[in-house]
Amino acid sequence: MTAEIIDGQAIATQVLEELRPRVQALRARGVAPGLAAVLVGDDPASVAYVRGKMRDCAEIGITSETFRLPAAASQQHIIDLVRKINADPAWHGLIVQLPLPAHVDEETVIAAIDPARDVDGAHPQSQGCLLRGLPTFLPATPHGVQQLLVRSGHPPEGKHVVICGRSNLVGKPLAVLLMQKRPGANATVTVCHTATPDLAAHTLRADILVAAIGRAGAITAEMVREGAVVIDVGINPVPDATRKSVVAPSALANSPNARRSHLTP
Ligand SMILES: NC(=O)c1ccc[n+]([C@@H]2O[C@H](COP(=O)([O-])OP(=O)(O)OC[C@H]3O[C@@H](n4cnc5c(N)ncnc54)[C@H](OP(=O)(O)O)[C@@H]3O)[C@@H](O)[C@H]2O)c1
Repeated sequence: MTAEIIDGQAIATQVLEELRPRVQALRARGVAPGLAAVLVGDDPASVAYVRGKMRDCAEIGITSETFRLPAAASQQHIIDLVRKINADPAWHGLIVQLPLPAHVDEETVIAAIDPARDVDGAHPQSQGCLLRGLPTFLPATPHGVQQLLVRSGHPPEGKHVVICGRSNLVGKPLAVLLMQKRPGANATVTVCHTATPDLAAHTLRADILVAAIGRAGAITAEMVREGAVVIDVGINPVPDATRKSVVAPSALANSPNARRSHLTP
């Protein structure tokens, strides 16, 4: 069996093209949709994520701005900025790019986001609504995984999805999203983590395997069932002698079995 690569870039373009007329319709009604991002410090991955979001906004006519603070900014300073953005009607959406520096309590900062502007679905209110199946903003990465599956012709309905990773950012909300009794979900979900004995025993039972582990090469060929759909959420630096520096989208070991399955680029 040869691998079918799920073309994430093509799906992202499709989503943007669907959003474009909706943004135009809002603008025609005199509403200029606005997204504010708070970026603290200059972690290269975070800078790249935020830059991508701003680029996509510009592409389809959403007004956007990145509010940058130095890595040493105090927690109160960050919260003050979040509250200022909350109070500004120009900003319909607010993202606080995570992770925040170690001296900052992320939960306290996230709790300061106005739930009505919490477009990244990070606020406890948003996550509680997600759990209960109520309308809410969906967290971006889990929603992206769901969209990749549905739009690539691998809907999770009735499938066994095994998620490696249980962070509040990816693993937990993805599990909750995919277990909902609704179209595009309705999966049987197993969540694995560092206390899971014999990880391979679980991954080998996956129709859909999601790696969100934060470490490159943790999933090897022997851990993937032939024909399984694999979504690799991880963005981890791996050494590459041919390049100065590399940030590779890979929690997966480069392996024949993995190649036989469906990988994200
Ligand atoms: N593509 C995107 O848009 C996007 C967005 C966000 C994050 N990411 C990437 O996705 C990855 C995960 O991010 P995160 O924020 O979820 O990371 P995280 O907060 O570090 O969580 C990692 C999770 O993986 C689990 N884990 C670690 N090693 C494991 C192992 N050997 N076996 C099973 N589980 C293991 C941890 O278990 P414990 O809970 O037991 O510690 C934890 O739940 C990172 O590479 C990150 O850069 C990508």
